[in-house]
Amino acid sequence: MTADTTPDFLTALRRRYATKQFDAAKSIPADTWRALEESLVLTPSSFGLQPWKFIVVTHPDLRTQLREVSWNQPQCTDASHFVVLAARDGLEQADIDRWIHRMTTVQGGSPADAAPLQSMIEGFVSSMTREQRHAWNVKQVYIALGQLMTTAAIAGVDSCPMEGIDPAAYDRILGLDGSGYATAVACALGYRSANDKYASTPKARFPHEEVVMHL
Ligand SMILES: Cc1cc2nc3c(=O)[nH]c(=O)nc-3n(C[C@H](O)[C@H](O)[C@H](O)COP(=O)(O)O)c2cc1C
Repeated sequence: MTADTTPDFLTALRRRYATKQFDAAKSIPADTWRALEESLVLTPSSFGLQPWKFIVVTHPDLRTQLREVSWNQPQCTDASHFVVLAARDGLEQADIDRWIHRMTTVQGGSPADAAPLQSMIEGFVSSMTREQRHAWNVKQVYIALGQLMTTAAIAGVDSCPMEGIDPAAYDRILGLDGSGYATAVACALGYRSANDKYASTPKARFPHEEVVMHL
């Protein structure tokens, strides 16, 4: 008999599925949740700009209101935790200055040392319209979504990424209007209900050989 050499991360990813029904009685332990928040904070972003806010919605009334503008999807109210991932809706000089200041504070060096990087970022950002910057920021937010779901799966926590939401209504309900950040996507996290038939649905993926090319 040969030993199972499947990496643990692959076992976790095969177990992960977009959870439709959460067990509302089960909560993610506080230390696990804190670690999952940290996985959001550690997400990489282009130039390191971190153009996002992650809003953990705990208040039951807010979660009920969000469900009403999410096609009544039960994950909004039944999951242990519900995160709204918001993207910076533009990207201004002040954002770049703040990032350079943070980077030099943490990593050492003076703003003068960082001047070449700063002007490269400024050149890149100024070549885009406001809408393009927002779209670029949304791409970064989706990296955070992927990282959150993957780390959750490794931690044995179930999740459901959610685009079936009304982002403008979310912004209104969460008070994001005028904040400089706009809802991009949401993610419910917790533990699957024993009744969720989707947990045992086989993964429908195109064959590995069709998807991955080796040149
Ligand atoms: C960005 C994104 C948004 C999604 N939005 C929803 C959603 O609103 N509601 C839902 O039940 N599933 C949603 N899904 C789940 C997908 O339908 C699901 O991931 C896909 O069918 C693959 O199935 P699996 O994740 O169970 O392997 C979303 C997935 C992604 C990646």
